[in-house]
Amino acid sequence: MTKSKGGFSTRAVHSGEIRDNRFGSITTPIVQSSTFIFQGIEEVRKLAQGVVGRFEYGRYGNPTQFAAEAKLAALEETEDAVLFSSGMSAITTTLFSLLYTGDHIIITDDAYRRTLQFCKKCLIRFGIDCTIVKMCDYDAIAAAIRPNTRIFFSESPTNPYLNIMDLDRLRGIFQGRGILVISDSTFATPYNQKPLEFGVDLVIHSATKYLGGHNDLLSGVVLGRKELTNPIREYLKTTGGVIDPHCAYLLLRGLKTFELRMIRHNETGQAVAEFLEQHPKVHRVYYPGLPSHPHHEVAKRQMKGFGGVVTFELENDINAALEFMNRLKIINIGPSLGGVESLITHPASISYYDHNKEERLALGITDGLIRLAVGIENCEDIIADLEQALG
Ligand SMILES: Cc1ncc(COP(=O)(O)O)c(C=O)c1O
Repeated sequence: MTKSKGGFSTRAVHSGEIRDNRFGSITTPIVQSSTFIFQGIEEVRKLAQGVVGRFEYGRYGNPTQFAAEAKLAALEETEDAVLFSSGMSAITTTLFSLLYTGDHIIITDDAYRRTLQFCKKCLIRFGIDCTIVKMCDYDAIAAAIRPNTRIFFSESPTNPYLNIMDLDRLRGIFQGRGILVISDSTFATPYNQKPLEFGVDLVIHSATKYLGGHNDLLSGVVLGRKELTNPIREYLKTTGGVIDPHCAYLLLRGLKTFELRMIRHNETGQAVAEFLEQHPKVHRVYYPGLPSHPHHEVAKRQMKGFGGVVTFELENDINAALEFMNRLKIINIGPSLGGVESLITHPASISYYDHNKEERLALGITDGLIRLAVGIENCEDIIADLEQALG
């Protein structure tokens, strides 16, 4: 593990920044260039021989991208971070680079639906077998291991029920078996949870969410030891889903306030969950910070805070749920999370509109289910907005 330099916000502000740039600018320049020129052919030779390390072509790396990667690695307290054009690009490139025909992957059933879709419908075409196991069924996870199992992939917390994977128990199952454990930690962030400290091999985030934090970029990142990330970085040079330099800059900028935003998301998430739980019109609330959540004790053990996503159920009626959302004045309807603006979504009509009702209910997506992602607006304003809309 890379030694951390200073506290979390000190690293968020200073790590990775290119301060020795020729203009002396305190902010890292956006190096908006697809190519990097050589002073002469001798320099090309030296690059090819590995005598000098320098930039060459945008798909192979860019200074602004590398700065953002160094900051993210410092926050996750690991050796390396590789940035991608989206969270899905991080997931698909990572899995493609590590899996070969004949391999087997185990994935938990309430992983992000596009990740599941990739494993079920795409990897299978390349002769890579996939077993989907019930989240938190540790016996089923252990029983799914085969001699050719190469990867165990899961998320924690999950969407939309915020189930928590017990990372200590995972370590007990996978340690010493030569199977790579990958965790999508998007909903937790490196502020609230450090899966690598629990023996997870690679962590993935959709940086579109809390890391970017301003609902203005798409990106993804994979983090871990260099021996694991190097082949993924090499593979990315071929698959090409690289982050744009301007996007890398937005990420660098957004990360400077990361801890402040997370403190606010955690506080407001908890207060909103408690408010909703006592409201007579709310049937059930799912939030890992509530004692009523089935994984509250595990969450308390391995997380610092529980984030800004609160899922709840109104009466089991689509129209009642949609009318409630239409009455909101500050909270906007939209399918993301982790940004400064609060967003609310009705999974049955937004993310799962292409499923028939039976399929949707089998996945636990009921008619009255609502997912709220609190932003950093004043907590009392968010609660007042919910209260008037529920009334
Ligand atoms: C847990 C999780 N992982 C991955 C992704 C994909 O990220 P992106 O939208 O940046 O491709 C999402 C998107 O919602 C997500 O929620």
